Amino acid sequence: MNEKGKVFDFKDGIVENELVEAADAIRSGKLVIFPTETVYGIGANALSEEAVSNIFLAKGRASDNPLIAHISNFEMLKDLVMEVSPLEQKIIDAFWPGPLTIILPKKKIVPYKVTAGLDTVAIRMPENEIALKLIEKSKVPIAAPSANVSGRPSGTNIEDIIEELSDKVSIIIDGGPTNIGVESTVIRVVDDIPVILRPGKITPEDLIRVAGKVKIDNNVYSKPEENSKVLSPGMKYKHYAPNSNCILVTIDDGEEKQIEKVNNIINENTNKKVLVLSCTEHMKNYNTDLVLNMGSKDNYNEISKNIFTLLRKVDSYLPDLVVIEGVKKEGIGIAIMNRLIRACGYNII
Ligand code: TXA
Ligand code: MG
Repeated sequence: MNEKGKVFDFKDGIVENELVEAADAIRSGKLVIFPTETVYGIGANALSEEAVSNIFLAKGRASDNPLIAHISNFEMLKDLVMEVSPLEQKIIDAFWPGPLTIILPKKKIVPYKVTAGLDTVAIRMPENEIALKLIEKSKVPIAAPSANVSGRPSGTNIEDIIEELSDKVSIIIDGGPTNIGVESTVIRVVDDIPVILRPGKITPEDLIRVAGKVKIDNNVYSKPEENSKVLSPGMKYKHYAPNSNCILVTIDDGEEKQIEKVNNIINENTNKKVLVLSCTEHMKNYNTDLVLNMGSKDNYNEISKNIFTLLRKVDSYLPDLVVIEGVKKEGIGIAIMNRLIRACGYNII
């Protein structure tokens, strides 16, 4: 068993000498877990092939799934990418710093280890003071995937992260629970139209406001065909899944039908331990002892903030079956559904 990483508490503010220690760790090729506004990231020097290899080892991540390089200023962007079109620049200006990742043609300086062999690199400037200061002090871009073992729900609170990863990294910076709770919107501009490869807090409507148009990649809600060419390798992988068997019950036919379907599943499985993830307003409708609150149906930001922590928590009840209420595919609800569909392994009714 490896030594456990140090935990730095920045919840009440950045501790300067510890920030310096974390930045030194990044510069010397070590792994540092840090908060962003979306989820926590496992960071390493994005310009060092060896440092980045350690991320893949720590996560057990498939080597063909590329990483996001996090930057703290626009100079860094110029260093990493060949060119930024006027439309790409407009999108960047509108949403950075913030929960938007953009895929751009890479310069030679970006190791193929980061991009998993692709000639493009994913770049994001996070809107989180700790993340920005860490990048600034490290003086290098930081490659960082979500802080979780591959396939597991992304890390959004420090307890889950320490339990899962503390023996795999040098330092963990505690910045409190992350605000948004689902990962950044990933886009690529194709033929002057932004294409959403992974939905997030920046919604299609937000992008239309800036770019006039938007497309949502087909694989956002569906499973890519076997061996098909996907625009974003991450789409192929099982993700966000509890160990328990999960079913997603959509709201597409209305709330009453949704409640009825959940109750049908509970009634058909009286000999089993069924756990329900429900919006606050529907909890009282379910005749089982195990109902967890996802947040209000009128506040999808609350549901998005809670969702990964809840997906991790369900396993601790050792349920035979987990039934999850879907949300409307609107606003950040699109991102929530994208994650829930994968968490349930495309098991949807
Ligand atoms: O909010 C976030 O984006 C978080 C925080 C830590 O910033 N990071 C994150 O990283 O979610 P990760 O590695 O879990 O997800 C990155 C996604 C993957 O689906 C990956 O396939 C895609 O971005 N991606 C990365 N580089 C790409 C590229 N060059 N072309 C297409 N997709 C790419
Ligand atoms: Mg991830």
